[in-house]
Amino acid sequence: MSASFSLTMNNHMITLLLTIITILSLSHSSLSTVVSHDGRALLINGERKIILSGSIHYPRSTPEMWPDLIKKSKEGGLDAIETYVFWNSHEPVRRQYDFTGKNDLIRFLKTVQDAGLYAILRIGPYACAEWNYGGFPVWLHNMPGIELRTANKVFMDEMQNFTTLIVNKVKDENLFASQGGPIILAQIENEYGNVISSYGDAGKAYRDWCANMAVSQNIGVPWIMCQESDAPQPIINTCNGWYCHDFTPNNPNSPKIWTENWTGWFKNWGGKVPHRTAEDVAYAVARFFQTGGTVQNYYMFHGGTNFGRTSGGPYITTSYDYDAPLDEYGNLNQPKYGHLKQLHSVLHSMEKLLTYGDVNTTDMGNSVTVTTFTNNKTSSCFLSNANSTNDATIVLNHRTFTIPAWSVSILPDCKNEAYNTAKVRLFLVHIQYIYLLFWDVLLEQKAATNDTSDYLWYMTSLHLDKNDIIWSDDMRLRINSSAHVLHVYVNGEELVSFYSIGYEYGKEDSFTYIFEGKVNLTKGKNIISLLSATVGLQNYGPYYDMTPVGIVGPVELVGKRGDEIVIKDLSSHVWAYKTGLQGLDHDMLYSETSPSVRRWKTETDMPVDTQMTWYKTTFKPPLGTNPVVLDLSSMGKGEAWVNGISIGRYWPSYLADEDGCSLDPCDYRGEYDNTKCVTNCGKSIQTEYHVPRSFLRDDVNTLVLFEEFGGNPTQVKFKTIGVKGACANGYEGSTLELSCKGSSISAIKFASFGNPLGDCGSFGKGSCDIDAQPILIKACVGHETCSVDISEKTFGSALNCEEKTKRLAVEITC
Ligand code: GAL
Repeated sequence: MSASFSLTMNNHMITLLLTIITILSLSHSSLSTVVSHDGRALLINGERKIILSGSIHYPRSTPEMWPDLIKKSKEGGLDAIETYVFWNSHEPVRRQYDFTGKNDLIRFLKTVQDAGLYAILRIGPYACAEWNYGGFPVWLHNMPGIELRTANKVFMDEMQNFTTLIVNKVKDENLFASQGGPIILAQIENEYGNVISSYGDAGKAYRDWCANMAVSQNIGVPWIMCQESDAPQPIINTCNGWYCHDFTPNNPNSPKIWTENWTGWFKNWGGKVPHRTAEDVAYAVARFFQTGGTVQNYYMFHGGTNFGRTSGGPYITTSYDYDAPLDEYGNLNQPKYGHLKQLHSVLHSMEKLLTYGDVNTTDMGNSVTVTTFTNNKTSSCFLSNANSTNDATIVLNHRTFTIPAWSVSILPDCKNEAYNTAKVRLFLVHIQYIYLLFWDVLLEQKAATNDTSDYLWYMTSLHLDKNDIIWSDDMRLRINSSAHVLHVYVNGEELVSFYSIGYEYGKEDSFTYIFEGKVNLTKGKNIISLLSATVGLQNYGPYYDMTPVGIVGPVELVGKRGDEIVIKDLSSHVWAYKTGLQGLDHDMLYSETSPSVRRWKTETDMPVDTQMTWYKTTFKPPLGTNPVVLDLSSMGKGEAWVNGISIGRYWPSYLADEDGCSLDPCDYRGEYDNTKCVTNCGKSIQTEYHVPRSFLRDDVNTLVLFEEFGGNPTQVKFKTIGVKGACANGYEGSTLELSCKGSSISAIKFASFGNPLGDCGSFGKGSCDIDAQPILIKACVGHETCSVDISEKTFGSALNCEEKTKRLAVEITC
């Protein structure tokens, strides 16, 4: 009896245990998020959602910066963070992996998760992204029999190997939504449709293989392919560009997704600074949602920095600021950040109607469109005016609305305008610099040997005697080159140094040119040394990986015999090659543990304007917590290291051409591209280089510069970037918030309620001017933030004001 009782108990216990296990496993699956989609939207646990997302590339900032960047993204109204995965950062040497520091993808994704945001993982592993060689490790290119981005077994095996590695790493940490993690979408390849035609049938086979390989990874969330109009099912094809309202996915069951809404553009050495207005970005987003889009990602939300030698292009700058809503250092780029934040809040308030409502679109003529999203109780309206010069008047529900040219008004209740893309209401933040730094130590060294670096030497020896057919008074050296920068030395003397200009994005041969110059050779032995430097490897275009860099040849001596031109081809000579420069490779002069430390020497007369020179100094970190930049405006071209960490290439001496900048304020109206609204003509594209605070120690820090062209290090200084003041615009009926972020508002420089004129920094009174200064002084000065209702009740009225809606313009000092 007792035995059978005990057996019964055991059975009960087993049953109980099994139930507990089932509950536990169920509760695990109830933690998981089911991501599916229909033709309208992504469905999260069965419910249609709108997703506002922003790109932050983890290696373009530091783990210490990630939480703040992600927090600001969330506060700016984003639901998700998107990133590429950077293959060459993770597998710099075949089968040797790096997931530490800035490359800690898992930590980045967990930071996103901790902030309560979703993630979109664009595994690629081809990225483009103005990243060196598009994200491919260069060892791939050197594998026998390989052809990249096409149906080639060697390549596909490597791509599958890396993709699987990433997927498994992410799965191991339960980071896919299907496992309870933040990742709701994953991307395979990148914009393959832009280049597929160049690869013929092999390209199509490769695309289909990519899709199958991705699906076989079993990640439990949908896969996307961007700019690939023939993406095979079940892959969702998505759009990239300045505008995507005209985009339609290739399957009625795919939602309309915009993977790259370019918030600005990248910068090239020697180029101008591109700007995209807040009005135009907002217009593009509003048009996208008006036309049924439901997932939208800003490329970039934070652009950041190309540390080390990670920038591609070629000729992409170290800064990847991108004119994004968060600037390179993580500060709010106003008014873009604030203007988009308001838009996000309005769009979120309409989520149900945008994803479930019945849609009715009326073309009012003259590029004016009214779109209504309705369910049985309520409706929301978009009134868009795509005319680039004329404002439009629309009567809707017995009310009259003026829609400025190239703008969209959003009326969540179809009665009141909650937002217009052309009415920027928020802050413009100014920056402030603090000066620091003195040089004390340096080492000078001439160029020479060995490294995997930007630099490659080509050297040959040439024996000439006076009977040589080429010998004459007028001998010239002719070099066919694809070197981004070329230094020519003959018998140890520099003949010429120059760099290629006229780079065109995606045009493979824009660096190929012929150099020809007079050369003085001696009878007997001559040494010709050519130093070729790359400035980032190409990252885009069909067969971009095959673009030659360096001296492609022929290299010829051109002489004259009477009237006859004689050519001696030196290409078939024996050439010796050396990778790198002395100091960069084994010496690693930038490193604090360099074996060559003892070779540094202190100079009283600082050599300035000398080529191939190493400089070193120590410094205390700038006080405070504001972002730190190194001002290298007095330098030529080179690379800089702080405490042994490369903060990137610098090239401030390369000035943009003088033409193409307008003194007029940028007109947001009309289609944008990256040549519109450029600034900085005739100036250097980048003089300041970000030094993340986490690179710095509290006590003594080291700065090392390698200067290739010649510069003046005595002028180099550190600065910090903080908030000096702010401007704000607000329309009657709304609430204005002013803030000095960490310090208090010290003065109201300007304040007018009515129809004020001008822009931040140059505001002026209009014909209708109600002095708002006394009220604002009372409400704001001495406080870190303040908020006021913009109304006649707050500021009073004036007889000569005929404005239907008055505007408040304010400039404050912090
Ligand atoms: C896209 C590409 C991105 C980036 C962008 C320009 O075509 O997908 O990776 O290169 O252009 O910033």
